[in-house]
Amino acid sequence: MRRSVVAGNWKMHGVRADQARLVGALLEGAEDFACDVLVCPPFPYLLEISRQLSGSVWRLGAQDLCADPGPGAFTGEVSGTMLHDVGCTHVLVGHSERRALYAEDDALIARKFQAAQAAGLVPILCVGESLDERERGVTETVVGRQLAAVLDVAGVAALSRAIIAYEPVWAIGTGKTATVEQAQAVHAFIRGRVAVQDAMIARSVRILYGGSVKASNAAELFAQPDIDGGLVGGASLHADEFLKIGAAAP
Ligand code: 13P
Repeated sequence: MRRSVVAGNWKMHGVRADQARLVGALLEGAEDFACDVLVCPPFPYLLEISRQLSGSVWRLGAQDLCADPGPGAFTGEVSGTMLHDVGCTHVLVGHSERRALYAEDDALIARKFQAAQAAGLVPILCVGESLDERERGVTETVVGRQLAAVLDVAGVAALSRAIIAYEPVWAIGTGKTATVEQAQAVHAFIRGRVAVQDAMIARSVRILYGGSVKASNAAELFAQPDIDGGLVGGASLHADEFLKIGAAAP
């Protein structure tokens, strides 16, 4: 396990040919990264991409999973077991788009976190405040609540097999990056909250920043003491750009 992680969340972009081209370019350009690198393609492409990435440094993540371990009557859902079976090692849990567009609440996200770990996947727990919440000065209340919802159910020890991603909603896909000071402050807050329960886990848990990460701002963000890499959306769809972000991680 490396100290930092750079993960690409492709969201609902591209079709099969685009994905294959992107993966091909990532494989060609891959160097000996100092960080762990992974991509999170849409569900239908996971198996094929898993085969393409096999034997490389790249790891595979999914963007969501069913809160119920299954198997069972859950039409339209995909279980952690299935994701693990097709080669995923990681899965995003509680991405802000899931929270905002699909009404996922803290309780459901905590169940998804546990379902991921039960299936042998590393959950990447996403937390972050909206613009309105930041302007009202309740960033720490919101992020603290989102974190506590999972810690209360899964226990702090579960964080030794998880990653946290801080993604301020107002910085996602907007081109508006949190300043390094703003990002570092929330990362330090998150680590502090974990430290209250377990200082060792707080030191080792990797906390990624997400929200308009680009090659031009990655190094500065990753140089902050509590920023252990990035969860990259838009820029991860461009191999050159994404490879540069990977290379910027310490
Ligand atoms: P952007 O990098 O496009 O802002 O997206 C961030 C994100 O939501 C990654 O999960």
